[in-house]
Amino acid sequence: MAIVKIDAVGGYEGQSVTICGWLTHKRSSGRIRFLMLRDGTGTIQATLIKGETNEHALDLYSELLQESSLAVTGTVRRDKRAPGGYEILVSDVEAFQVADTYPIAPKEHGVGFLMDHRHLWLRSSRQWAILHVRHTVINAARRFFDDQGFTLLDAPILTGASCEGTTTLFETDYFGDRKAYLSQSGQLYMEAGAMAFGKVYCCGPTFRAEKSKTRRHLTEFWMIEPEVAFADLETIMKLAEALIVAIVEEVLKTRQQELHLLERDITRIEKIRPPFYVISYDEALQILKDAGESLPWGEDFGGSQETIVSNHFDKPVLIHRYPAQIKAFYMKNDPDRSEVALCLDVLAPEGYGEIIGGGQREDDTAILKEKIEEAELLAEDFKWYLDLRRYGSVPHAGFGLGIERTVAWLCGLEHVRESIPFPRLMDRLYP
Ligand code: 4AD
Ligand code: MG
Repeated sequence: MAIVKIDAVGGYEGQSVTICGWLTHKRSSGRIRFLMLRDGTGTIQATLIKGETNEHALDLYSELLQESSLAVTGTVRRDKRAPGGYEILVSDVEAFQVADTYPIAPKEHGVGFLMDHRHLWLRSSRQWAILHVRHTVINAARRFFDDQGFTLLDAPILTGASCEGTTTLFETDYFGDRKAYLSQSGQLYMEAGAMAFGKVYCCGPTFRAEKSKTRRHLTEFWMIEPEVAFADLETIMKLAEALIVAIVEEVLKTRQQELHLLERDITRIEKIRPPFYVISYDEALQILKDAGESLPWGEDFGGSQETIVSNHFDKPVLIHRYPAQIKAFYMKNDPDRSEVALCLDVLAPEGYGEIIGGGQREDDTAILKEKIEEAELLAEDFKWYLDLRRYGSVPHAGFGLGIERTVAWLCGLEHVRESIPFPRLMDRLYP
């Protein structure tokens, strides 16, 4: 007997198949009994009828609780009313296990309860939809870079020094004689890679000990980080736009069912076509001023300011040339205006905040040395990084796209915690 996945039953109309899955719910109507089954590819209704279905299965029906694991055998029938368009007329049911009473009932649960049961919550249709979109976002981004001749270069997770500033480092003991840190970004290593391969990217988990309990912050999140040799700010601004366009196209092409299930307003995403909006930090300040939320020049935007600026646009907005004083040590200052950095942030629309951060890197040894000192970083930790400038330094640039914020935006989620299978937040390390 062929074991068939639910999303493939259409090819077996009139034939007998076995479906292995989990019971989402059951109901009976007169002498007919229904089992709703889920197998990860979809859901299907299995119909039990006296005379057609064996006695063993009819007896088993009454014992089955939600999430019992089953092998259901029967004939595939087309049925317009059934979700998915097909049902199974059951001849036999075998249970792998009859489940205990399932803690997640169809009633409303609080987020805390659901997060405590994240290992089970993953089975719900909403999480199924979100994490499928995540899968597609990562794949589309990787394919985008692969197709353009980038080489995947994995960055280390245990590092000896900080990349994005020392205040948000997770530190761990390294064999009792020194400290190691969980990587905040693979960037510095990608810079080494760009000098070896020309165009590289990494995609992996990064860590920030952020004490912020906002809907945009995780302590462990995934980033995809391209780095390009012989490139300037302009080059990677175009690259950032093209990447987002490629991700959006793939999600719209392959995840309609998921977006529909999430009740996402798809028209908002269909608008995401090039060109995106491009403004400077100074112009962003003016938008804030016009909105009655003036900010002195030189200060960074908080979440609420990002929301005001992004709400001004119906597509992503690229903001360039922030004050150098609020940006990381590795950024190159604008030679025409040294108080600003040749950097880039991309804000997603609808208040989803910054999804990309990056820019052109300082490529001069002496200036970089100074910046490392100013940032109060240990020169010896960055000896290797300075080597990249001593041996064939070139203009180069790159950025990092946060996977979870991108998924939260595309799915229309209230909080990034649902956009990663097992979120790590300031107050969440379980399960
Ligand atoms: O702007 P960030 O800090 O940039 C960097 O780390 C650069 N070194 C990247 C590079 O140039 N290669 O972070 C990049 C992106 C942000 O725009 C945001 O999408 C995401 O990473 N991000 C977070 N996502 C979830 N939770 C957090 N705590 C995040 N911090 C940053
Ligand atoms: Mg940033």
